[in-house]
Amino acid sequence: MVKLTFGLGGVAALAIGVPVVSAVLAPLLEPAPQTWRKVGTLADFAVGSTHLVKFENANAKAWSGMTSESAAWLRRESEKEFIAFSVNCAHLGCPVRWEQGAGLFMCPCHGGIYYKDGTVAAGPPPQGLTQYHIRVAGNDDVELLTAPIPITNMTS
Ligand code: FES
Repeated sequence: MVKLTFGLGGVAALAIGVPVVSAVLAPLLEPAPQTWRKVGTLADFAVGSTHLVKFENANAKAWSGMTSESAAWLRRESEKEFIAFSVNCAHLGCPVRWEQGAGLFMCPCHGGIYYKDGTVAAGPPPQGLTQYHIRVAGNDDVELLTAPIPITNMTS
């Protein structure tokens, strides 16, 4: 009788535990969805300029609200060449801002500084700003390939 009770208890624990554990782990194991999002047209970005662009994440849900919105720094290098950088500092993820006069990205948290090409100029960031893929689609749509918020170097 005791073996039967433990056996039924084990089956019940598996019946409840497996779905719960699966639901918790599934988002960690699935590849992050990516999609191209229009962030403007060629006419919106002058050559040599840097702009903050906003876009919706690829995995936005109906109830996500503002949390589904992301942003990137978009820099137009030439007629058809763009670079897009994460707004998150490569140190601990604080949002960096573009300083037009200095031509630098500045992080307010620990003084991280990046050149206009996203490489580190000074401070604690262990690497340059993470870049997004950018393309010009159709005649003049500038599109960004969404990606998860970059993981920063938490050990430095
Ligand atoms: S988070 Fe940017 S320098 Fe630390």
